[in-house]
Amino acid sequence: MATGLGTVRNVAELRSLIAGWRGQGQSVGLVPTMGALHEGHFSLVRASLTNNDRTCVTLFINPKQFGEGEDLGTYPRDEAADTAALERLGADALFAPAAVEMYPEGSATSVSVPGLGDMLEGEFRPGFFTGVATVVTKLLIQALPDQAFFGEKDYQQLCVVRRLATDLNIPTEIIACPIVREDDGLALSSRNAYLSFDERRLAPSLHAALAAAAAQVVAGADPSDAAELAKRAILEAGFGKVDYIAIRDSDSLQPLVKLDGRARILGAAWIGKTRLIDNLSITG
Ligand code: PAF
Repeated sequence: MATGLGTVRNVAELRSLIAGWRGQGQSVGLVPTMGALHEGHFSLVRASLTNNDRTCVTLFINPKQFGEGEDLGTYPRDEAADTAALERLGADALFAPAAVEMYPEGSATSVSVPGLGDMLEGEFRPGFFTGVATVVTKLLIQALPDQAFFGEKDYQQLCVVRRLATDLNIPTEIIACPIVREDDGLALSSRNAYLSFDERRLAPSLHAALAAAAAQVVAGADPSDAAELAKRAILEAGFGKVDYIAIRDSDSLQPLVKLDGRARILGAAWIGKTRLIDNLSITG
C-alpha cells in the first residue's frame, strides 16, 4: 500500500494519521527504532509491511535509556538516510518527535518492569530498561498499533516489552523478528559502526563463543561450565571485558534449571570502547 512516506513530529499528527487509516479499516504495524537504520531494522519493517496495511516507523533517540557516560551524544544519527531507506522499503510514515514532545516539561511518570528489567543488561546498565519501558509504553499508547515489531537481537528488551504490554493491557501484539547477522556471524547493530578495522575482525568471536556454549549445553554440559568456557574464549579472542554470559529460561530469563527447548544464551562484552550484546536460542 505504498503512497509515499510522510514524516510526523508530534503525537496529535500521529494520532490523526492513524485515525485516518483506521477509518478506512486498515491495520497498523509499528516499528520503534532509534534510527541509524540497517538490515536488522529493515527486516522489522518488511515484516510489518507483510502483516499490516500500514506501517509506521518511529525514530527517537531516547535520552532516558542512556546512562551517565554512555553514548547518547555520539549515537549515530542520519535522519535523511533513514528516510530515504524507509521510502525505498515502502513504509507509510515516520514518527520522529523531538525530546520535548515525548517528555513534556515536568514529565515525571516512568514505567519499570522489576525482575526482568533488573537482571543481565539491567544490572550493568541501571535505569536502561526503565527508559526503554517508558518510551515503548508511550509509543504504543500514542499509536495503538495492531502489531509492534522488535528484534531478537535485544532479546531482554523483547521480554520486557512483552511483559509491559501484557501487564498494562496494551492491545498490541508484540512480534519478535530473528536476528540479522553478517556472513561471519556478527549480529547487526547500529553500534557496530564504532568498531575499528581490527575490532570488527574479532567481533564475531562473541557469536562463535555463544554458539559453541549452546552446542555444549545441548550435548549435556552443565550451563554454568559452558558459560564459563564461552567467557574464556571471548577474552582469549581479544575482547577486553565480558559483562556476562548467561544461560536462561527464554521467557522468564531466570537461570536455566532444565533444558526443555525454551532456553537462551545471552552475552555482553567489550571490545575497546564498544559494548556488544548477542544471544542465541538453545534448542534441546
Ligand atoms: O531497540 C531500540 O532501538 C530501542 O531500545 C527502542 C525499542 C526503539 C526504544 O527506544
